[in-house]
Amino acid sequence: MPTIERLSTGIPSFDKLIQGGIPKGFFVAVCGEPGTGKTIFSMHFISQGIREGTPCIFVTTEESKESIIRQASQFNMPFKEAVEDGSLIIIDALMGAKEDKWSIHSLELTELLKKIVEAKKKLGYGDARLVIDSMSAFWLAAPAMARRDSYYVKKVLTKWNFTTIATSQYAITTGLGFGFGIEHVADGIIRFRKSIREGVLKRFVMVEKMRQTQHDLKMYEIDIRDGIGLIIIRPTKYRREDLILPQKVVEKMLETALKKELEIPEGSG
Ligand SMILES: Nc1ncnc2c1ncn2[C@@H]1O[C@H](COP(=O)(O)OP(=O)(O)OP(=O)(O)O)[C@@H](O)[C@H]1O
Ligand SMILES: [Mg+2]
Repeated sequence: MPTIERLSTGIPSFDKLIQGGIPKGFFVAVCGEPGTGKTIFSMHFISQGIREGTPCIFVTTEESKESIIRQASQFNMPFKEAVEDGSLIIIDALMGAKEDKWSIHSLELTELLKKIVEAKKKLGYGDARLVIDSMSAFWLAAPAMARRDSYYVKKVLTKWNFTTIATSQYAITTGLGFGFGIEHVADGIIRFRKSIREGVLKRFVMVEKMRQTQHDLKMYEIDIRDGIGLIIIRPTKYRREDLILPQKVVEKMLETALKKELEIPEGSG
């Protein structure tokens, strides 16, 4: 059997779940609700690239470039230095200043891909690591386009020698099923979750799919620690069913939210 070249995620305890790392050239979806660790996981992946001397691109749509750099510094990840020495390009699709060459000012996929390719040319030939955080931002206006777009994005990125992590948020409405369609095209799915146990917020991760990999099938409790970042703690005994709200509860919550939205008194917003 040919050996598969795998890239470390930068989290040794996570690499163990996927036979050492993500196969080179893969397009991996990292999904989960807000605050579950998607961005921090993606930052570890980039930090590892920096450590190995591989050129990196980080696209941010949810936070500004400055916010990403600040968050990275809390985990001792040298994003600032890498941006300065040109081995990391951060494409800011949120707060990008007009004079920043690496910002984009619309959430159009074609513009994003153009910018990524431009950045790749600047970084040079060969392999590179790419994070798109998040992909959902590009589909807010037209969720139905997501699946078709994903094929196109994956094709372009493979051609340019990227190994890619694309994050995707789950709204409560889509958390039970599949969200934006990125998951079918993706070579891997890493699913983050959260749950409140005895009044405490707990976070979990599970590898739901990793092609060409005999991956771990358990769900793990994770922690995010200052100065360190994301770590795997232990397998959890919870079933997947324990961590998602029953359909009836979701329907009730949506109904209440919708009612509230329709009843917002004037001057309150
Ligand atoms: N320095 C730190 N020390 C400990 N925990 C931290 C630190 N910085 C952030 N966190 C934790 O990480 C969480 C944010 O994680 P992250 O940004 O990866 O979430 P996310 O899944 O990307 O969410 P979203 O979908 O909203 O972007 C915070 O809510 C906080 O609990
Ligand atoms: Mg995030």
